[in-house]
Parts: sequence; structure tokens; C-alpha cells
Amino acid sequence: MRTYRIAAIPGDGIGREVIDAGIEVLAAVTERDRGFKLAVTHFDWGSERYKRTGAMMPADGLDRLRGMDAIYFGSAGSPDVPDHITLWGLRLAICQPFDQYANVRPTRILPGIKSPLAGVTAQDLDWVIVRENSEGEYSGNGGRVHKGLPDEIATETSIFTRAGVQRIMRFAFRLARTRPRKLLTVVTKSNAQRHGMVLWDEIAAEVAGEFPDVAWDKMLVDAMTVRMTMKPASLDTIVATNLHADILSDLASALAGSIGVAPTANLNPERAYPSMFEPIHGSAFDIMGKGIANPVGTFWSGVMMLEHLGEKDAAARLMRAIERVTADPRLHTPDLGGSARTADVTNAVCEAVRADNF
Ligand code: IPM
Ligand code: MG
Repeated sequence: MRTYRIAAIPGDGIGREVIDAGIEVLAAVTERDRGFKLAVTHFDWGSERYKRTGAMMPADGLDRLRGMDAIYFGSAGSPDVPDHITLWGLRLAICQPFDQYANVRPTRILPGIKSPLAGVTAQDLDWVIVRENSEGEYSGNGGRVHKGLPDEIATETSIFTRAGVQRIMRFAFRLARTRPRKLLTVVTKSNAQRHGMVLWDEIAAEVAGEFPDVAWDKMLVDAMTVRMTMKPASLDTIVATNLHADILSDLASALAGSIGVAPTANLNPERAYPSMFEPIHGSAFDIMGKGIANPVGTFWSGVMMLEHLGEKDAAARLMRAIERVTADPRLHTPDLGGSARTADVTNAVCEAVRADNF
């Protein structure tokens, strides 16, 4: 029987609550399936460790992750540690050296969940956002001089490389090709940003030539927010830069009902390094420890992890279980307007996995 090695990094805030819940439903899936096992190793990396030792993860952290088949990540962030330290100390400290350049963010209106957009149904809003995850505005390239003085200067220089844009564009076209609509929208801001974004436009047109069976169009990021809101059914697969896609994916998850259900895969498609799966929502300190965090984003990220591992049947079974549970408003957490608790949703999904007879 195949055993996959999974690194669980719950991190901070509600990350710990939702990753515990995620491990529980994945255990229910493996018990039901019996075709494979998950060997989970827990890592207590995060802000608590930073406050104790001065580092979010140990110096040999990447070596300890290298041999894993996948990473299941909660969130990083703490009210008493600056956000750029927690981000660069853990999440980006894993994503960047492991070259997880393709960040995939599916957005759908799950059964039982309502979009805030009047009259918009599940058929109208079914998107996958592909976020460039290794360069662009998150390159970390810049600096500050004359700190604290009136003439202080800070630079934050985006980096766009031909190789980096080409590989994410090919990834996005390939993904669009697997979807029924075969439609890719390339988002830039090439009217105002006349270097890097124009490179994106040029490479999009070149790569499109390799995919004659995929229809594609272009949008400026500001106009894209309007199209997502006013004409959601006109979109399918979307590719954008690191920062643009970060912003658009928050909008997307809100339009689909709640950021609490939104999943992410940080993929190294070549599989030279482990890929990482996490809910989009972050550490949410306002609700930490209350037992009311929505675990669905973490469960759905678990589905993406199973797909990546090649366990398609198990992934489909978990997704069916999630959708059976979201369909029941009594099992909605407060972010969805309900009063269910994390444990209620987790137990219900485990139960639905056991009852699934496909
Ligand atoms: C996301 C998050 C992160 C990001 C934060 C937590 C730094 O917003 O995954 O979308 O901006 O990448
Ligand atoms: Mg974000």
C-alpha cells in the first residue's frame, strides 16, 4: 500500500484549529478508501516559536520538508509580530525555495452557500485563478535608506522574467484546456505599468499560439473587478501576477460566499520539491480559540492535496462529502451566517465520507 509523507504545519491563529480538523477528515478518507495511507509529521513552526527563538522555523527546516510528498499548511500571522516577518519567515520561506510558482485558487459557489450577488447561481460562478507565485511584486527586491529621516526612501521593485512569465502562462493555458469552457483571461495593468506588464501581454500572445484550442482574452486588473462582479459567467480560468491575483482571489472568495471556504495549492508542477496546500483565510485572530473557524477551506485544500498525490477517487469522495455538508445550513459556521462550530462541520464531513457509497 502506498504511504504518502505529509508535513502538517498548522502555524498561527485558527491555522491550528483548521489543520487539526483537516487531518481528522483526511484520516476518515484513508479509512474509507484503504488504498493508501498518510504518514503525518507535525511541525510546531510559527509565531510562538519566533517569540521563543527568533525564527519562525529552524535553520534546517527546508531539509526536513524536502522528502515530504506534500505540505498541509494552516496560516502564519500574529498580532504581536510584524506581518512581513511572519510571512517571509515561514510561508514565503517555503514557497520560494521550493519553487512553488503556480498558486491555484478554485472558486465556486458550493451547495447551500449564497453569493452576495443577486441572482448569481453556481452555474454562473465557476472560476480557477492561477496566481504567479514566485516573482512579480512579491520578489522581496528593494530596500530602505535614510531610515526615519524626512528624506527616507523605500523601493519595492517588481521582477518579471521571461522564464517566470512563460512557465506560469503555459501552466494556465494547460489548466484552462482541461476545463469545459477552455477559456483563459489574462489579467495585467499594461496601460500604466509599461515594462513588466507589457512583457506579460507579449508572452501571453506567444504562448496562446501553442494552445489553439483554448480561447483567451485580456483584462486590465481594475476593469477585471467590475467584470467579476457584473458578469461572473463570462469568466473561467484566470491568470494574473502575484499581487493582482492575491487581491482578485479575495474578491472571488467573497463573491462565492465566504473566504472561509476558499482553498489554495502552491504547486511546483515539475515535482522537484513538495507542493503546499492551505486555506486562503489567514490566521483570523479575532476568532482564534473560539472553535468557530470554518474548516471547509482547509478540507477543500485537502482535496487539492489528494488530487496532487494522484488519489483522484479519494479527492472526489472528500469533495462530495464537503458539498453534502455545506448544503445543510445548520452546518454553516458564523462566517456563512450560521451558528455551527468547527467540530460540528468536521464530524459531519467525516460522517459523510463514511456514508459515501460511490
Ligand atoms: C494569500 C494571503 C497571503 C498573501 C498573506 C497572508 C501574506 O493573503 O495567500 O492570499 O498575500 O500571499
Ligand atoms: Mg490574499
